Amino acid sequence: MMKTQSVSIPPRPSALMSSLRGLGYSPETALADMIDNCITAGAANIEIDLRWDRELPVVAILDDGKGMGEQTLVDAMCLGGEGPESARAPGDLGRFGMGMKTASLSQSRRLTVLTRLPGSAVHGLCLDVAVIARDGWVAEIPDPRPEHAFVTKLTKLRSGTLVLWEQLDELSGLTGLSKEAFYLRLEEIRSHLGMIFHRYIDGDASRIAIVLNGRAIKAWDPFQSDHPATQAMPSQRIRHAETSFTIQPYVLPHRDRFENETAYDAAGGPGGWGARQGFYVYRGKRLLVSGSWLGLGSSRTWTRDESSRLARIQIDLPTNMDREWRIDVRKSQARPPGVLRTRLTDIAARCRGAAREVFAFRGQGPRVRGARGEAHAVWLASASPRGIQYRINRDHPVISACRAAVGSQRPLDAVLSIIERSMPVERIWLDVSESEGAAVPELDTYEVVELSSQLVELGRMLPPSMSTDQRVETLLRNLPGDLTALRATLKQKIEETDG
Ligand SMILES: Nc1ncnc2c1ncn2[C@@H]1O[C@H](COP(=O)(O)OP(=O)(O)OP(=O)(O)O)[C@@H](O)[C@H]1O
Ligand SMILES: [Mg+2]
Repeated sequence: MMKTQSVSIPPRPSALMSSLRGLGYSPETALADMIDNCITAGAANIEIDLRWDRELPVVAILDDGKGMGEQTLVDAMCLGGEGPESARAPGDLGRFGMGMKTASLSQSRRLTVLTRLPGSAVHGLCLDVAVIARDGWVAEIPDPRPEHAFVTKLTKLRSGTLVLWEQLDELSGLTGLSKEAFYLRLEEIRSHLGMIFHRYIDGDASRIAIVLNGRAIKAWDPFQSDHPATQAMPSQRIRHAETSFTIQPYVLPHRDRFENETAYDAAGGPGGWGARQGFYVYRGKRLLVSGSWLGLGSSRTWTRDESSRLARIQIDLPTNMDREWRIDVRKSQARPPGVLRTRLTDIAARCRGAAREVFAFRGQGPRVRGARGEAHAVWLASASPRGIQYRINRDHPVISACRAAVGSQRPLDAVLSIIERSMPVERIWLDVSESEGAAVPELDTYEVVELSSQLVELGRMLPPSMSTDQRVETLLRNLPGDLTALRATLKQKIEETDG
């Protein structure tokens, strides 16, 4: 056999390091990578210190996980580690053997790791961009140890690991910020981490507490599973590449079903309702993709539409489908395997359809296409070759009573037709999209008085056989929002005029 000649081509440390530093982590994805490692190490408590401090800018991440022995730490500091092909335990959130290094050095020029196994002393290693550029791929033993309150904390834990980012030249644009801007960004990071790890903080995964600058991070559940009006559609188990995963679509409640504006906004999540629709892809219960239609679509690729903002679909991947779903080092993206696209599109289309009905009909169920029980709807929608047409229901009790009272029906029918045909649909659509959904304006005292006087007159046209309560309900049934005051006033007025 002929021996192939070869030349050695070791990567140039400074050049490779610059490229790795530019992989494109944000502070939240970089921190999430660190938290992954803490979870894999079995930590129950993770504490992060991230302060605006011109004198001593350091980020510290401390966990009470199992810690590392000397050789494990040496391996851990090595780029590539075991590599992506080796089998890992199901609870291991790692894959590439890169995260700790690439994420840390994307934010800072110096990474120090201090760690201890149960019952042994703290030891550490440090990667420094300048040292690597000068001496090649070496890790230094930090001496003296960096000064940080967490270093002392680590010595008091039974076991654990402390990651320090020093010389924060990047911190993805955070270092140059004013104090106020920095703290605003910090709140975004907080809510992002509360979303990524919500199932660990307050869900069905092993329990962890994450504390950022002394305050616990709160979980944000994209599916609002505790809300009684959240609809869970049937879940499915999909087999693929010798394993399987589950998919569970949800339709979230209409805005009216939330207690108040604050609760509604909070349920929207970081970035708001518009941005947070679509698939939520979890890997080992850790969120990778937080609302995206994943490039799927039927006739054209779906975008984030107003009408599908209430559709959120959970996909639960095990950690051994990374190649099929093209998970990358940053663990912030996933692409569905080609052969599953049709199936996922079908499931998502059904969810989008259901979400659309809730969005458009305020969660009172669809009133489209001649369904039974629509006698009380004011508006009817029917599909026609020219699109969906909206008509005022001539059989609505109030309208038919009105038609009867007017005697000749033609003028009233003409008025209804003019209203139907002149509805400023595009205008409404635009206004709703631009204002992040249509809020129901609350009635002030004046409006309650005004509206109730008008409604009393209408109420007199209803069949005499109806009781006061039936009248009130017939008149108010289609109105959105909180009607407590209006209902009480109207009832009182009807009783007064009757009596
Ligand atoms: N907080 C920690 N506690 C214990 N061991 C840790 C901790 N952080 C990192 N390690 C060790 O360092 C190794 C390298 O971590 P790194 O994040 O670079 O790669 P990974 O987690 O294996 O894979 P990925 O690149 O997908 O994150 C881990 O496999 C683990 O053995
Ligand atoms: Mg990792």
